[in-house]
Amino acid sequence: MADIRNIVVLTGAGISAESGVPTFRGPDGLWEGHRVEDVATPQAYARDPDLVLDFYDQRRAKLHTVEPNPAHDALGRLDAEWPGELLIVTQNVDDLHERGGAKRLLHMHGELKSGWCLACGDRRPFEGKMAERPTCPACGARGHIRPDIVWFGEMPYQMERIEAALSTCDLFVSIGTSGAVYPAAGFVQSARQFGAQTLEMNLDPSEGSFFFHESRMGKAGELVPEWVEGLLSG
Ligand code: APR
Repeated sequence: MADIRNIVVLTGAGISAESGVPTFRGPDGLWEGHRVEDVATPQAYARDPDLVLDFYDQRRAKLHTVEPNPAHDALGRLDAEWPGELLIVTQNVDDLHERGGAKRLLHMHGELKSGWCLACGDRRPFEGKMAERPTCPACGARGHIRPDIVWFGEMPYQMERIEAALSTCDLFVSIGTSGAVYPAAGFVQSARQFGAQTLEMNLDPSEGSFFFHESRMGKAGELVPEWVEGLLSG
């Protein structure tokens, strides 16, 4: 580990599980009682906007009832203390990384607390209920604000920046993701191609476990603080 300087961390729903935010691919195959394709696709939004907006309004409201856990806090500490390059790429749309202190952070699948006006393209922080069809502060149009979230079939955000970081990192770490959704699931192979060491921390082996140099199985709230402590103490 002595020659590690540049780090990319990828996180998924598993890192927020111990905070009480449900993961996507639970044993029943449902996400908070819905099939993913009924709430997380542009087609679902076109078919039943009330259902989709209300679903995300509930997820946004729930953020006020959850707190970052030791895994988020440990990444916040890593961000504050790591002298080299660091990019934390999260697939999560919650705000627990920010609240855990992470700054070198990118939300590749968007954010619950951001709204996107389809009338004018404006994206900005959003609190409240989209199902009440608020007015866009930028253009004044009513009822065109949708969740600023990357749904299935849409392009994740900031891929160029992510690919640049993957191509220069010495260590790629994946935390709490099932490895079922691309392009994030392919990051481990990109990083390896450019010579990075790769480490996975997950409750159980992800679909891409085979691609990692090392896999640590267990709870993120325990594994991540241990890993950060080890890294920072050299
Ligand atoms: N600690 C570590 N890992 C955990 C924990 C925990 N406490 N609890 C669950 N996990 C693991 C599960 O074993 C699973 O492998 O986290 C993973 C969560 O997987 P998913 O629910 O598939 O979530 P994620 O990988 O983030 O999904 C990717 O899919 O639906 C889309 O856009 C959505 O960003 C999401 C993407």
